[in-house]
Amino acid sequence: MPAKTKTRLAVFASGSGSNAENLIRYFQGHPDIKIALVVSNRQDAFVLKRAKRYDVPAVVVTSQEWQQEGFIKNLFSKNNIDGVVLAGYLLLIPEYFIKMYPEKILNIHPALLPDFGGKGMYGMHVHRAVIDSGAGKSGITIHVVDEAYDHGQIIFQETLKIEQGETSESLAKRIQKLEHRHYPIVVENHFTP
Ligand code: GRF
Repeated sequence: MPAKTKTRLAVFASGSGSNAENLIRYFQGHPDIKIALVVSNRQDAFVLKRAKRYDVPAVVVTSQEWQQEGFIKNLFSKNNIDGVVLAGYLLLIPEYFIKMYPEKILNIHPALLPDFGGKGMYGMHVHRAVIDSGAGKSGITIHVVDEAYDHGQIIFQETLKIEQGETSESLAKRIQKLEHRHYPIVVENHFTP
């Protein structure tokens, strides 16, 4: 019998890449899903070092290269990529790319969308905005990516209560734990045939 082919995912990250590493570790030796490529837009992103540590091929794709549809199509077909997981990726994904992977691009946002989302709402900006608003809760949102920032269909949310004396730093740590706990499982469920 021919060997079963795995679903090959690319993880996109612009910075540290703790979620990217967490996904790589989770899917190591997985029977159906493989993290086959890491894509960053920054040469100095720490995620590239993390990918190297796990022998996952990694490439830098600049915003100029994103405008070259042929180049991008070639890169993704050469690597046989079936789906994409965004994990702290700060560039807007062009429309042609979203059409290449309908319902097959996921993103994680460190707050409860539709609140505290949109352009400029990333990293500590999000947690500061949540604390400043006096909200009683925050959480994580995992959604399908469409043409607008933080906008596509929500497939998972998990909530946490903002504690007395909570700071944006303490909130960021608690949110990161939630992300690491849930993102791999939601990705696994979404991409398991
Ligand atoms: C995460 O908080 C994620 O929700 C957001 O970007 C952050 C990436 O963090 N989209 P890391 O680089 O994975 O540590």
